[in-house]
Amino acid sequence: MRARWSGDTWLEKVGLAVGEVPTPILETMHLPLLARALTVSVRLGVFEALAGGALDAAALAGRLGTPAGALERLLDTQVGGGMLKLQGGRYALTRLAKKWVLAGSPSSLRDSLLFAHDEWDFIAGLESYVRTGSSAPYLGTLSPEAFERSERAATMRARLVQPELLRQLPSLEGATALLDVGGGHGHHARALLSRWPSLTAEVVDLPQAFAGAASAPRLTFTAGDARTADLGRGRFDVALLSLVAHHFTAAENAALFLRLASALRPGGHLLVLEWIRHDASKGAAQADLLGDLFFSLVSPEAPFTLPALSGWCTAAGLEVRRARRLRLARGMGVVLARKAAP
Ligand SMILES: C[S@@+](CC[C@H](N)C(=O)[O-])C[C@H]1O[C@@H](n2cnc3c(N)ncnc32)[C@H](O)[C@@H]1O
Repeated sequence: MRARWSGDTWLEKVGLAVGEVPTPILETMHLPLLARALTVSVRLGVFEALAGGALDAAALAGRLGTPAGALERLLDTQVGGGMLKLQGGRYALTRLAKKWVLAGSPSSLRDSLLFAHDEWDFIAGLESYVRTGSSAPYLGTLSPEAFERSERAATMRARLVQPELLRQLPSLEGATALLDVGGGHGHHARALLSRWPSLTAEVVDLPQAFAGAASAPRLTFTAGDARTADLGRGRFDVALLSLVAHHFTAAENAALFLRLASALRPGGHLLVLEWIRHDASKGAAQADLLGDLFFSLVSPEAPFTLPALSGWCTAAGLEVRRARRLRLARGMGVVLARKAAP
């Protein structure tokens, strides 16, 4: 996956083909504006205001309480970006907007886009990171509102990856206890509980993470720091660590994997999902390398490699059954490890 320019006229197409279009200007001026215009449109509620039908800029401005002229400039960028279309002077949602942006769509990424507005501030620290090598983990710096946005964003992203993630687990027939460390929103735990009726689930996360989490029968939320919380010994048939390891250093992960292994019953499984570091020398895709940079910037030591994740499992006495990149959830990979039965 990569961002590419395509020309609208034959002259532009030829210019692009022969490298005569100054694409760095487009990338540094137009692409950031496209991204920010989308998140601002989401924050204003543009897409929901158009859910009932097409409106012209003046009518939409009346609904949103903005000046019509400035709003019209914004809306026009969304026409160029493929989220809106113009029909006789009125703006209407495209199929893309209805599927991915509109609140209420089963595949809506609205909350993810709202948090992308916060992530913009993290990206502003890129030069400092590269100059000093000191990353800027953001979790402890978020306001309560931003933390809630991050958790809601994680829920929407979890929905995308969940089918492929949960397929990695063996049958949980007869299993009775699931531990989901850093599973804040409870989305994965709820899915497993509805699939396996004998299961109960415990989600351990920072207390702020539970603000918007929906409760469910057989599901308990335990507030605690994954690095220090008491996970017990031999209590769980399966433990999940999904997109949490990047919040910790390698040493913290090694210690956490030891405690996860000890929390498992003999024969129990640990499933880890994480953003996996890519290798540019092996032709990694542009989108994946940009993801690597983002995780480097906002994490203490991530992104990690599959061998690093597998190594923490092995060092904790677990047998690695599977370690691979996912096919659909681009950039991510899983490690499935098992505690030996007696
Ligand atoms: C990217 S979200 C992933 C949420 C969920 N596991 C998923 O896969 O969608 C990272 C989660 O890790 C949690 N987390 C971060 N640091 C933590 C810590 N020290 N102890 C417990 N949870 C932590 C966050 O609160 C958040 O819920």
